[in-house]
Amino acid sequence: MMTIPDLQRYKRDKKKIIVVTAYDALFTRLLEQAGIEVILVGDSLGVVVQGKPNTLAVTMEDMLYHTRLVAGTAQKSLVIGDMPFMSYQASKEDALRNAGRFLQAGAHAIKLEGGAAMADRVAAMTQVGIPVIGHLGMTPQSVNQYGGYKVQGKGKDQATMLLSDAKTLEAAGVVAIVLEAMPASLAQNITRQLAIPTIGIGAGPYCDGQVLVLYDLLGLFDEFVPKFVKPYAHLKADALQALRRYKEEVEEGKFPSDSESYQ
Ligand code: KIV
Repeated sequence: MMTIPDLQRYKRDKKKIIVVTAYDALFTRLLEQAGIEVILVGDSLGVVVQGKPNTLAVTMEDMLYHTRLVAGTAQKSLVIGDMPFMSYQASKEDALRNAGRFLQAGAHAIKLEGGAAMADRVAAMTQVGIPVIGHLGMTPQSVNQYGGYKVQGKGKDQATMLLSDAKTLEAAGVVAIVLEAMPASLAQNITRQLAIPTIGIGAGPYCDGQVLVLYDLLGLFDEFVPKFVKPYAHLKADALQALRRYKEEVEEGKFPSDSESYQ
């Protein structure tokens, strides 16, 4: 069973932390069979499951539903619930109550986006025993502010701000920080300066761990493929081929054959 203290141990022992997103029972089982120890129920489900252009419309109810599916199936993984847009931004009280709902749904930790402005939320959650994972860099819930999904931290001022945000989050109590879409050298510097682990996505090879969106990793989702995605399979192509063959075989009277029929 992977736990929060294990994350810190992995960093100390220089063992990589491998994180993949999942949204349902079937893929949770597959991830565990593959030895993935940390599962993020990401609000990326707004894009890859719900078909929206971004994550902004995802609700607490959506997230809790998928968290229950994953946490109810996972046997040994650490399950992280991703706090959706406006479930923690408006007030510390909202943030605390909503974070608690994730743990009641079976998650072991929550993740939220943002830097110093989120420090009071992080501290309040940490004080009542809710482990928090931060998320800095290209934080998708701020896509409108960035004017699109763009690499962050390229200039000196932005890089200094991100490092300062990371230190503030660490001081507030986060147990790890996701670093998304930033120069590898910046992620390396942040990783070196923190005692807690960093988990990169589009942040180069020097982070303490890596995370990818499951459907990107499997080549299932190809509508928007960022530079940092490596498809380790091409399941969309395989699925399309299977579906077209099924259609053809039914049309041609080849399916079902005797072996798929009761005599
Ligand atoms: O929502 C998500 O899947 C995420 C990861 C991309 C880190 O936040």
